[in-house]
Amino acid sequence: MLNWSDLEAACGSCRNCSLCETRHHVVFGEGLRTADLMFIGEGPGEQEDLTGRPFVGRAGQFLDEMLSIIDLDRSRYFIGNMVKCRPPQNRDPLNAEIEACIGYLRNQVALIRPKIIICLGRIAAMRLIREDFKITREHGQWFEKAGVHMMAMYHPSALLRDPRKRPEAFEDLKKLQAKIREVCPETYQGVIPLGNRAGRVQP
Ligand code: URA
Repeated sequence: MLNWSDLEAACGSCRNCSLCETRHHVVFGEGLRTADLMFIGEGPGEQEDLTGRPFVGRAGQFLDEMLSIIDLDRSRYFIGNMVKCRPPQNRDPLNAEIEACIGYLRNQVALIRPKIIICLGRIAAMRLIREDFKITREHGQWFEKAGVHMMAMYHPSALLRDPRKRPEAFEDLKKLQAKIREVCPETYQGVIPLGNRAGRVQP
């Protein structure tokens, strides 16, 4: 297992698959490296490839808005992707690309040791929860793997494309908030609840 700086350097010079030929930046992931909560998406899109940061495009901005409903921002969790380089035209990453990259994600999970992992979309859920995972049926359900609580939510791009899914995503957010309060309440330490932003930090 590599430490953070060696891992970031290894990702930065990775040539494990052909996505390295078209990338502008490796998108390593960002956020709190000691977090109890981790979000894992699919792979970088155009904005992420150009900036080297995860979830900064339209879907990412929408995700930030959603998570702010339950008082979460990037200082409270770590966010990354199944593959760290952009698939051309934002196609789904191929299994071979996911396998070429999964060691980096495993290393990140081993360093972070999260209590909760949220898969954003079916690609992450099918690799991390179960091969035949059905996102429409199984989003919002908790699974436990090696002591880690895992749930899949709809990918924010899917929620942008189909707003009718948003009420279900809201229910999933509430489940996430309840699980955080149950297994890692420190995640919310010092947070000023959204409804109370003009006020003081709650005791
Ligand atoms: N979609 C993803 O799955 N990941 C990103 O970083 C951006 C968009």
